[in-house]
Amino acid sequence: MTKKEAEKKIKELSIEIEHHNRLYYLEDKPVISDYAFDQMLEELLRLEKEFPDLKTTDSPTLRVGGGLTKSFESVAHEYPMLSLSNTYSEEELRDFDGRVSKGLEGEKYEYFCELKFDGVSISLVYEEGKLVRAVTRGDGVRGDNVTLNAKTIRAIPLHTIEKNHPEKFEVRGEIFMPRNVFAALNRELEEAGEETYANARNTASGTMKLQDSAEVAKRKLSCFVYFLLGEDLNVNSQEACVHSLERWGFHVSPTYKKCRNIDEVLDYIKKWEKHREHLPVETDGVVIKVNSLDQQEKLGFTAKSPRWAVAFKYKAESARTRLNAITYQVGRTGAVTPVAELEPIFLAGTTVKRASLHNANEIARLGLHVGDMVFVEKGGEIIPKVTGVDTNVRTGKSSAVKYITACPECGTTLIRREGEAVHYCPNEKGCPPQVTGKIEHFVHRKAMDINSIGERTIHQLFEAGMVRRPSDLYSLSKNDLLKLEGFKEQSSQKVISGIEESKSKPFEAVLFAIGIRHVGKTVAEKLARHFKSMESLMQADVEALLKAPEIGEIIARSVHDFLREKEHVVEIGRLQKAGLKMEIEATEVRVESDKLSSKSFVVSGVFQHYEREQLHQVIEANGGKVLSGVSGKTDFLVAGENMGPSKLEKAQRLGVKIISEDEFRKMLS
Ligand code: IVH
Repeated sequence: MTKKEAEKKIKELSIEIEHHNRLYYLEDKPVISDYAFDQMLEELLRLEKEFPDLKTTDSPTLRVGGGLTKSFESVAHEYPMLSLSNTYSEEELRDFDGRVSKGLEGEKYEYFCELKFDGVSISLVYEEGKLVRAVTRGDGVRGDNVTLNAKTIRAIPLHTIEKNHPEKFEVRGEIFMPRNVFAALNRELEEAGEETYANARNTASGTMKLQDSAEVAKRKLSCFVYFLLGEDLNVNSQEACVHSLERWGFHVSPTYKKCRNIDEVLDYIKKWEKHREHLPVETDGVVIKVNSLDQQEKLGFTAKSPRWAVAFKYKAESARTRLNAITYQVGRTGAVTPVAELEPIFLAGTTVKRASLHNANEIARLGLHVGDMVFVEKGGEIIPKVTGVDTNVRTGKSSAVKYITACPECGTTLIRREGEAVHYCPNEKGCPPQVTGKIEHFVHRKAMDINSIGERTIHQLFEAGMVRRPSDLYSLSKNDLLKLEGFKEQSSQKVISGIEESKSKPFEAVLFAIGIRHVGKTVAEKLARHFKSMESLMQADVEALLKAPEIGEIIARSVHDFLREKEHVVEIGRLQKAGLKMEIEATEVRVESDKLSSKSFVVSGVFQHYEREQLHQVIEANGGKVLSGVSGKTDFLVAGENMGPSKLEKAQRLGVKIISEDEFRKMLS
């Protein structure tokens, strides 16, 4: 293809892709399959790779990310990003209306109402119709330049679709993680044995601060805009601003409404209090703006916020119900969590029976008595919380809850470490849920992956006194298992084989399996790659741990303390003796270089010299990048035996270089 032809094709594809992107993300009316869409995107990626100087700053390929931001540049906002004053009641809102009416000296006025989206505010600057800068709110005066990350968000137009706009303008909006995306992300984390996120807002905020825009792209953030700023806008009301934004291709929530007076505003507030549960994004209130821009100017600003707008905040949904009991759960780490057992009650779409009470301090703070009528709330968080007690209806016979002093599972006296609010059961070796919990974690699919052992078998083994710690699994014999109820020759053999096979699991799986607090699958991989062996990890002090990529204070301390405990050292020794891998494979250690730098690989099939995971590590240890699927961004497909035909076919179609295991090894030598 000549450059001229490529230029034409790139233009056509870009227009087509953005068109379908808009149909999908803005209008929710896709007309082609995801597959057809991906094909076009891949073709564009391939062309841009072949003709790098034809890649534009608003190319739809920016949506998949790939650019890194080492540290976000701080930039000044052209117009400061102010906040709004809040109101919480009809009375306060009527007061606001009174101030507006007075300020406008008897002029007629209207309001424009929108929902208040609970996300992260963003300023988007467009020049000649193209997105040139995206900046976080920061302190309102200066924010972080997060343009690369923002460009991956498909609901943010990279350019306008209608040219009828000033040369330069600024749009304000709210970036958020849709509820379903947030739920799916948490499910995934839970599966991987990692800590889940508490709420969607903080997750969206954390995502915008990631350095790798490809990671941001994967998080599927979205964005609603609600504000237009600039000169020569040719509009005279908030309503007209919103209509301009819609015409230019921005994502505006269709929930807005013009209201003629404060009573209509109150109706709007009432209507959305219930309906907002069905929106894709969390909302915590309504924003009420004087519609006319002239009148906005006349009303002006206080030091912090406009006089022409106000937020009305919904009360977090709350209900009153009886506290029937407090129970205590003991986790695999021995941490004790008090749980409020409630008289079931319907709240914000679900029936609530239990709520976490966090720790003893929280119970004391609330001053709970069993039998109390308590208030339960569901805010942005998933787990409902007890927020207070209705002391008016207390009978007088009840008394304040006394926190337990002994473990409800094994009777051991609980301890509370200095500076921590949580009580622990120190009986790590004998407390049933701790022991079985640790073994369940150890055999988990993402850890040692011994799928022939389930929860029931673990309980049987524990009760029969055969297994007290993970290493005991490795001395089980078939005869031992045959003694258990329900075990026959075949099922016993299956368990033994499963245990045997687990010995070939890589070091990072072992590191995850031993259950160090705060060390999930990803952290285990990072630690394994950095320290390479259990031995060097055990020698590392906190400072050395902090030097490992993306390891912070909390993880470093947790790893350090865990590996200093004699009990753990002994158990690791037993696991090593049983034949578990305590270092990453020799090949990976030897070949660190930058021979593969800036090359990306997809690996498929079975190999002679490497396990799949190992091959990934070798690539990364030599500066290469591993991708999960073949795309226009792939440089090499390393083809093993029995590789998937679809990957092969796709690689051929996209002109990706296909290499054998031997050829790959030659690249390294
Ligand atoms: S208008 C001059 N409209 O709430 C103030 N803000 O407390 C312009 N927000 O910083 C803000 N939804 O991050 C406006 N429909 C909406 C909004 C909204 C959410 C956020 C925004 C702002 C904060 C104000």
